[in-house]
Amino acid sequence: MVPNHIAIILDGNGRWAKKRGLPRTAGHTQGAKNIETISRAAYKMGVKYLTIYVFSTENWKRPQSEVDAIMKLLNNYLSNCLKNAKKNNMQVRILGDKTRLDPDMQKKIAELEEVSKQYDGLNLNVAINYGSRDEIVRATRTIAEDVRSGKINPDDITDEMISNYLDTREVPDPDFLIRTSGEERLSNYLLWQLAYSEFYFTDVPWPDFSVKDLEMAIEEYNRRNRRYGNV
Ligand code: IPE
Ligand code: IPE
Ligand code: MG
Repeated sequence: MVPNHIAIILDGNGRWAKKRGLPRTAGHTQGAKNIETISRAAYKMGVKYLTIYVFSTENWKRPQSEVDAIMKLLNNYLSNCLKNAKKNNMQVRILGDKTRLDPDMQKKIAELEEVSKQYDGLNLNVAINYGSRDEIVRATRTIAEDVRSGKINPDDITDEMISNYLDTREVPDPDFLIRTSGEERLSNYLLWQLAYSEFYFTDVPWPDFSVKDLEMAIEEYNRRNRRYGNV
């Protein structure tokens, strides 16, 4: 069975490049190309939701030249998504705080989300300037404002309601989390949403992560015995 929702922390672009004596940005270029390969393959395999982590709230701490290069690649990537949305039948959402992104990029995101709404193949969520703690802070502020204005009551707050205030509202929780390149941590990704997901770590760096690697990960997922606190 193919997981309904796969979340990926695509890691290892920098190390991939360093090993080849290339600048880190070459790794990001290769990594961006691989997003298209893997998302198309995931759709063909029957995955309904794919959520990829491409830039964290912490990644602004990197050298400005690297941040600029990543943002340029993401901008191009989003343009391609817009161009190919129909052909790929993909509905795209951006998770994260968009207000810190370049105004041009914000405009592109708004257009992409609007245009791709009608497509019902793969739901592709791209986390840009995303941090789970930041997401929870933003959601909590909105909930507090809605309590203050009388729209909701503190007694109405349930875990379902909290889910509906997060960037992932309307998106079911991931079944499966994949992190590439050997690190075994969440790095502030989807802390609320991954509460009951299966975790999978591979040493393969993201630019080398192939369709075969994805198939192997899914085979491993199918060997897991998922439980939710029951027997
Ligand atoms: C993942 O690759 C991409 C981003 C975080 C933007 P890294 O750039 O983290 O690559 P490593 O982990 O340094 O090898
Ligand atoms: C996590 O990777 C963020 C993304 C993949 C976008 P990092 O490479 O930034 O995470 P750390 O610093 O190793 O925890
Ligand atoms: Mg990394």
